[in-house]
Amino acid sequence: MLAKRVATQQLYLDWNATTPPAPSVLEAMDAARPLAWANPSSVHSAGRAARRLVEDTRERLAVLLELHPRDIVLTGGGTEANNLALAHAPGLALSRLEHPSVVRVAEQLADAGRPVAWLPVSPSGQIEVDGVRERCQHLPAGSWLAAMLVNHETGVVQPLEALARVAQGLGLKLHCDAVQALGKVDLAPLIHADSISVAAHKLRGPKGVGALCLRANAEGVVPVPRPVLRGGSQERGFRPGTQDAVAIAGFGAALERLSKHQEGLEGVRELRDGLERALTARAQVSGAGAPRAPHVSNLRFAGWRGDELVAALDLEGICVSAGSACSAGTLEPSPVLAAMLGPEAASSGVRFSLGEDTQAADIERVIQVLGRLVSGD
Ligand SMILES: Cc1ncc(COP(=O)(O)O)c(C=O)c1O
Repeated sequence: MLAKRVATQQLYLDWNATTPPAPSVLEAMDAARPLAWANPSSVHSAGRAARRLVEDTRERLAVLLELHPRDIVLTGGGTEANNLALAHAPGLALSRLEHPSVVRVAEQLADAGRPVAWLPVSPSGQIEVDGVRERCQHLPAGSWLAAMLVNHETGVVQPLEALARVAQGLGLKLHCDAVQALGKVDLAPLIHADSISVAAHKLRGPKGVGALCLRANAEGVVPVPRPVLRGGSQERGFRPGTQDAVAIAGFGAALERLSKHQEGLEGVRELRDGLERALTARAQVSGAGAPRAPHVSNLRFAGWRGDELVAALDLEGICVSAGSACSAGTLEPSPVLAAMLGPEAASSGVRFSLGEDTQAADIERVIQVLGRLVSGD
């Protein structure tokens, strides 16, 4: 009986889809609850107490990204932040590596007749910087280039600094989706981005809260996003709607423990590399030739469709995913793998994303289960 329970114990290796809230985050949210129920826009003392929690988180994020707190727009998550950054762009350059919350915006812009440039992608999963200039010649002044820092499916780190140089030469502003980057990789390249999207739930914070962070240029001019939602003057009118001060307090606590989060991932690179080494004969690693975040492995197993292997692993109690969580259940091939490797590879990826809590024994279990599944024993 005990053996059976151990064998089916759930093993969560889908930390890129979302992360379990950290105990300190849950404690901060509980502590905030008696104060944070009030409307942070109310001028009375109850409102001011809620407001303080909102402003504390804003300041923490501003310090982390070396920005002015005024230029942090709190949103309902990463999707909203990306939409807010780009939905009214006069023109946009991006690649098929971007998250659907960027790609769908680009498609909408194109439908509305705005110029959109699709950037070339290398087989290792990076935007090809050399091909950017040629594709962007037709973009009007004030257009944006969108490039994420860490890819959600492969963990590949994009050459943000080089892209920023090209964008600057072309007079384009740079938007960076850093949702998968905080707590995972060096954030220094974000200094080159005019706007940055982040989401709390990818760094052990709560769902439904994130931010669009705006950076002043050398002349001190800050990009002015056009609101997607219409309403009151919360978040300076850029994102109207009453803020959820409890969730925002949780976001603040997640930011406070960010260095711990990153430290916790140090051993994870070894585990991830060990997983890949053990499976060399059976699987190919997507993005292996590029710099990658330490915790992600996107593997393709010969003869297996990604969604089938995900289902087989789920029966063994192992939670992983094929493609991004937002496309899960759609059976659509991965646009990221398609852009890198073509249509055949697009249906075969399985993403293992590890976290602070992942142990060597977990990886041993995955290797053992995969060995059995893919060899058909
Ligand atoms: C790279 C990237 N951008 C944006 C998002 C969307 O963030 P949210 O789930 O907070 O809307 C995600 C979530 O999967 C993501 O991985």
